[in-house]
Amino acid sequence: MKSLIQYFIFVFLVIGLYGFAFANYSNTGEEPAGKKAFVDAKCNNCHGISSEDIVSKSKKKDNPDLSGIGSTHKADFIKKYLLKTEKLNDKKHPSNWKGEDKALEDIAKWLESLKKK
Ligand code: HEC
Repeated sequence: MKSLIQYFIFVFLVIGLYGFAFANYSNTGEEPAGKKAFVDAKCNNCHGISSEDIVSKSKKKDNPDLSGIGSTHKADFIKKYLLKTEKLNDKKHPSNWKGEDKALEDIAKWLESLKKK
């Protein structure tokens, strides 16, 4: 009888550890679609987002870091700005959007979610 109890404790321990390891795995593996699309679209060639550990590949100082950008711009504006139908400070965005609508939608929504801390 005692060994049966020990057996069950062992089994529950193993299941528990598995669950823990799996939960941790899925947490680190989950990236917002917009973050992935941002990097895929090479926005990080110019823009860093220090709050999200994204480092700009450009050394030019006039490429703004987009940390907290969601406190300044809404997703809808970001979309139009990148499609160059909307201007910022009377200037159009320097790069041309050539990707899919869905990816731009994801990026714009994700950027809007980045609020100033
Ligand atoms: C060729 C370099 C370059 C690339 C590539 C680029 N940007 Fe920009 N972006 C800039 C520059 C420079 C500005 C600032 C323009 C200004 O102030 O008139 C800017 C401004 C912005 C702004 C407004 C920032 C603010 O402070 O108001 C957003 C949002 C933005 N970019 C998003 C993106 C996204 C999303 C991508 C990828 C699809 C991207 N950019 C790709 C150079 C770039």
